[in-house]
Amino acid sequence: MHAQEILAAKRAAQKLTPSQIRHFIDGYTEGSIPDYQAAALVMAIAIHGMEPDELAVWTEAMLHSGEVLDLSGVEGVKVDKHSTGGVGDKISLCLAPMVAACGVPVPMISGRGLGHTGGTLDKLEAIPGFSVGLTTEQFIDQVGRLGVALIGQTETLAPADRKLYALRDVTATVDSIPLIASSIMSKKLAEGIDALVLDVKVGDGAFMKTLPEARTLAQTLVDIGSRAGKAVTAFLTSMDQVLGHQVGNANETAEAIEVVKGTGPKDVTELTLTLGCEMLVLGGVCEDTNEARRKLEQSVASGAAAQKLRSVIEAQRGDAAVVDDPGRLPTSSHQKKVPAQKDGHVAQMKSRSIGRAAMLLGAGRRKAEDSIDPGVGVEVTKKVGEPVNKGDTLAILRYNERDELDEAVALVENSFVVEEQAPPAQSLILEVIRGSRK
Ligand code: URA
Repeated sequence: MHAQEILAAKRAAQKLTPSQIRHFIDGYTEGSIPDYQAAALVMAIAIHGMEPDELAVWTEAMLHSGEVLDLSGVEGVKVDKHSTGGVGDKISLCLAPMVAACGVPVPMISGRGLGHTGGTLDKLEAIPGFSVGLTTEQFIDQVGRLGVALIGQTETLAPADRKLYALRDVTATVDSIPLIASSIMSKKLAEGIDALVLDVKVGDGAFMKTLPEARTLAQTLVDIGSRAGKAVTAFLTSMDQVLGHQVGNANETAEAIEVVKGTGPKDVTELTLTLGCEMLVLGGVCEDTNEARRKLEQSVASGAAAQKLRSVIEAQRGDAAVVDDPGRLPTSSHQKKVPAQKDGHVAQMKSRSIGRAAMLLGAGRRKAEDSIDPGVGVEVTKKVGEPVNKGDTLAILRYNERDELDEAVALVENSFVVEEQAPPAQSLILEVIRGSRK
């Protein structure tokens, strides 16, 4: 089989056969198919799309391009959560220990931040000593012993995705729904999970700017999971303002610790409970959402969730005392407040600009190889709908010496729109799509 024939078929908007797909993904992973042919194929896919069954085979070929973890030795239904990425999204840090404290094993493999969005690994690494680099054996062992492990992508998991993602980045094919969906699901399915809860972000700070686009992505993700025999639920949630108050790394970790202890911001707590309830139901430890919510709230009130978080941090060689004393987390040496220019209500908060400002302060990366400063970030002190008086602080930038401070301040100033009238209340949870295993 020649790669050119596969390219010609997709260029003509034809459906690729399973053997064509496997030939292409295997050849590209091992290097017999070069980048220039793969670039042509991803461009043709970005233009013509893929049929659902074709995409399921494409995803399966990516998933089998590397190691697929075997968690069958761990008792229980293994459930993970994945977010398509937002600003201030620290949910994984509080959700994983809360769900594990309720008896559902959570094997969580997360990513790093890039551009205006943060990444769970960077937030975890803000905890002094914390290691996200467990071996596969250590990861499986820890999920078995503690019910939760939080690690980064290994070299051996879905290597086809790593190559294809780098190629998409330089060929303007990142924002293709079949390519995004297969990229996410190949990595998640390689974790050896039984069920998955997806948080598909919608709005200014998200990949998907509109509800119809996000709905298509969510449905595509759920469909791939269902065809692979997994229980998958996708929530569409708003990213039209920062989640919680903190954007950065150590500050977000501190905010997630508050949620685990029952003192977190309302929106972060609500989203954690919503996703957690679904994980408990899919995990088979609760009959319905009401029972699951009671169980999760109980894990917080009894201190079991906080204890689970201490155990995970300790197992991964971090300073578990941060759970009781978040003052041990890294901080910054300077701060700058952004005041409101007039009286009124916060009508809009452009979360993408706030994420970008945090990146400029050093909390995120422009390029994958950039290093980050864990102690810097942005705190939003007023959220959408809140009344403000002229001179009130809208946000605080926390930084160390930084050339781009002025640009970051301007981004935060311009991200707030203050108007006389309060805007209509916005929902955080917009829709839910549940799969049925095929
Ligand atoms: N996240 C991924 O893992 N892959 C994509 O293509 C986009 C977001």
